[in-house]
Amino acid sequence: MAEGDIRTDDDVWYENFVENYLPKGSERIGDGSAPRPAALVHISLGTDENFEKMVDFYMKFFNCKVVNYRDKRAASGDGGRAAFISWDNRDHRFAILERKGSQRARGRAGIAHAAFQYASLKDLVALYRQAKSWGIGIVHAINHGQSTSFYYSDPDGNEIETYIDNFDTPEECTHFKHWIQYRPGLEYNMKLGAFDPEKMGKLVDEGHDEKFLRQRDNVIKLKAEGKL
Ligand SMILES: [Fe+2]
Repeated sequence: MAEGDIRTDDDVWYENFVENYLPKGSERIGDGSAPRPAALVHISLGTDENFEKMVDFYMKFFNCKVVNYRDKRAASGDGGRAAFISWDNRDHRFAILERKGSQRARGRAGIAHAAFQYASLKDLVALYRQAKSWGIGIVHAINHGQSTSFYYSDPDGNEIETYIDNFDTPEECTHFKHWIQYRPGLEYNMKLGAFDPEKMGKLVDEGHDEKFLRQRDNVIKLKAEGKL
């Protein structure tokens, strides 16, 4: 068989990506020589009148300790407070920066959300209940296929995703994302995976296997039965 006789979905998707997503007439895609990061480590958030509420939220929600704090409000110029907090041995996982007069951009521009992986569905449910007891309401919960995700909003309206992988390895999650989630012809409907976090908590309490509850098809079935 001559080279080029087989066109896989990969070829079609790549061409579609190049055609629709990349700037025209540019170099288009790098040559792959850029060093890759070892990790995504921290998030820095600018805020104004919600500074205390933001520090309180991130300390509680992510079970953080303060690593450092500074107060430059007395200094001239745009000096403000800054809190550097962390849930583990990193010097900071969040920097909350007081920037007077700053306003969070409304609408769709900017970072849409940051996602944090947890060890188990049980942890996601525990955090959901803990957050609820603090008056932090969930925005929505959804099984995306490769992840089960619970979304929240911080005092400034920045969205946070807490999630677990639905497969045992990152490779399987990537496989789903690449080949299955938006596969042409499947008409993937994201909303079908949305579920009631209260009911999910009940199923977890009842001891259902997390592997079962992570599967999107099972979530859709349980919803049809009124159990999720
Ligand atoms: Fe996400």
